[in-house]
Amino acid sequence: MLTFDDDTTPSTSASNAAATPAASVKRVNAADKRIINAKTDVNQLVPFKYKWAWEKYLATCANHWMPQEVNMTRDIALWKDPNGLTEDERRIVKRNLGFFVTADSLAANNIVLGTYRHITAPECRQFLLRQAFEEAIHTHAYQYIVESLGLEEGEIFNAYNEIKSIRDKDEFLIPYIEAIMDPNFHTGTPETDQTLLKSLIVFACLMEGLFFYVGFTQILALGRQNKMTGAAEQYQYILRDESMHCNFGIDLINQLKLENPHLWTNEFKEEIKALFIKAVELEYAYAEDTMPRGVLGMNASMFKGYLRYIANRRATQIGLEELFPGEENPFPWMSEMIDLKKERNFFETRVIEYQTGGALSWD
Ligand SMILES: [Fe+2]
Ligand SMILES: [Fe+2]
Repeated sequence: MLTFDDDTTPSTSASNAAATPAASVKRVNAADKRIINAKTDVNQLVPFKYKWAWEKYLATCANHWMPQEVNMTRDIALWKDPNGLTEDERRIVKRNLGFFVTADSLAANNIVLGTYRHITAPECRQFLLRQAFEEAIHTHAYQYIVESLGLEEGEIFNAYNEIKSIRDKDEFLIPYIEAIMDPNFHTGTPETDQTLLKSLIVFACLMEGLFFYVGFTQILALGRQNKMTGAAEQYQYILRDESMHCNFGIDLINQLKLENPHLWTNEFKEEIKALFIKAVELEYAYAEDTMPRGVLGMNASMFKGYLRYIANRRATQIGLEELFPGEENPFPWMSEMIDLKKERNFFETRVIEYQTGGALSWD
């Protein structure tokens, strides 16, 4: 948005103003930038105010990867071998893909059609643009796994309509996407600003920060047992991206709160806490559905503790108290996975290091 300020612009003659219209436009002052409802020009990335957003943008670019770089040969052989995986392990793989093949499209649409237009800080928009592309890469990765394994596309891509534990998670999320996608929705009142804030919290803390974690843990547990190592490697890169999305989202939420403390009312906090508790229930139901029995040294009840542990972490990250005090992490190895360094290739399926613009080959 271009802004004009008659009080501070030096007066010019009518002819001069017509010749150099830009001279009458006030230059952007970093101090005037706001996460929402700013009056500064969103087309001007600098002067920077939100350096953390720019730095996260640079970090996500440094982590660039593409699904086709991961060799799926061993996964394909294992999947085709009738004795390669147990029925419970196959169920985990199919349920996982059933959730994720549409989840990242939901995430991308939420950014592009919802969040983006309401965020008025160009540094944050820059991150959101990168994030949207990463969501496309993730959908591509899941599709690539489905195609590599020769799974029935109709079954996997319709799971979000047909599998209750997946449908329930998506039905929880969709109202928060639709609210901010509505063309008649605009921020600028305490009520609509709270609607946006709630949507940001649901997405960063509960979708990317919680609903992905049963699935990630399961596939990475397969990889740790030397099974489905190509899929596990893709999930590891996705997990790294998602933990960045979640951290960015939390920074965005906290900055928005800092600039708009009147939104953070006790009533609003109670509403958010109830959403956290509901999300833990839904993800736990998904854990039970995907693991009717113990598998890979894990069982559903271990996930109850894990989800509560993660929910506590997300709650405290946005300034709420722990919802389930004292929960511990039953999967400490997941923390190592999240801290994956670019140069490290945990499952050693990737045949060459990624180089921007470099040619790729499987030889
Ligand atoms: Fe994603
Ligand atoms: Fe994401």
